[in-house]
Amino acid sequence: MSLFIVAGSPVSHSLSPAMHNAAFKALGMDDHHYGAVQVGIGDVDSVVSMLRSGRIAGANVTYPLKTVMASRVDALEGVAREIESVNTLVPHAGTVSGLSTDGDGCVRALESRGVSLEDASILLIGAGGAARSIAVSLAHARPRSITVANRTLEHARHLARRLEDMAPAAGVALDALTEHASKADVIIQATSVGMRHHVAELPLADASLAHRPTVMDIVYDPLETPLLSQARKAGCPIVDGIDLLVWQGALSFQAWLGVVPPVDAMQKAARAAGGRP
Ligand code: ATR
Repeated sequence: MSLFIVAGSPVSHSLSPAMHNAAFKALGMDDHHYGAVQVGIGDVDSVVSMLRSGRIAGANVTYPLKTVMASRVDALEGVAREIESVNTLVPHAGTVSGLSTDGDGCVRALESRGVSLEDASILLIGAGGAARSIAVSLAHARPRSITVANRTLEHARHLARRLEDMAPAAGVALDALTEHASKADVIIQATSVGMRHHVAELPLADASLAHRPTVMDIVYDPLETPLLSQARKAGCPIVDGIDLLVWQGALSFQAWLGVVPPVDAMQKAARAAGGRP
């Protein structure tokens, strides 16, 4: 039996077990299993040692462990090295590598819906952990520009400065959202605003979507966030948070097993488990 886990706190609501177990089933890998394990910050070393010893064959890491886990693994690869945050742990002969597939998953989710990022003007909302991973992958996709809009302007400017070597980037305050949305080809919402029970709203005027940019939201509970509902009514192409979940998971799956992930089966299972086909 090869065991895979998602570690975090809380994790009981995670859609990853349903999604990865469906992927194993689709490929006939009956001796593989994926489960959710409640792990607090004090227990991250036990996850790393179970990976080193081979008792776990691969792991995902979620809130609140992404940054602390990055400091405990033996090596960081790709985007994870740039942002010092991980969502995927891969064992190799007694050592553990950390990867961050959120950003590349975001790019793949957009591309899978026919959205081209090359030469696009991108507006990224947020400058926290999720936004940082996405920003680095977007910057590698050769966009025309990336504008980072964030509640705390200094965080937006800081992230934009980190991107400058890779792509033209600027940080702006959230008050300027409407102005920058009207110039964007692609808008990506990467904050917690829009999550169920989150009261805040984004200051975005309907008129700024009249040119029908693609609008993506990383939040998947609810699946149609207030922003996606606004975008749908404006006639914009939309990409939802389950697409991101599926593609980041598909990239983790590929990193653990070296096989092409059955993305359609993963997509179907994640939507069914979320009760949102
Ligand atoms: P995550 O790892 O999920 O990205 P995080 O690192 O805490 O979480 O980042 C949360 C992001 O959501 C930040 O961009 C945060 O803005 P600040 O940098 O100003 O903190 C943003 N955010 C959280 N609550 C918000 C709110 N009520 N309105 C606007 N932005 C908010």
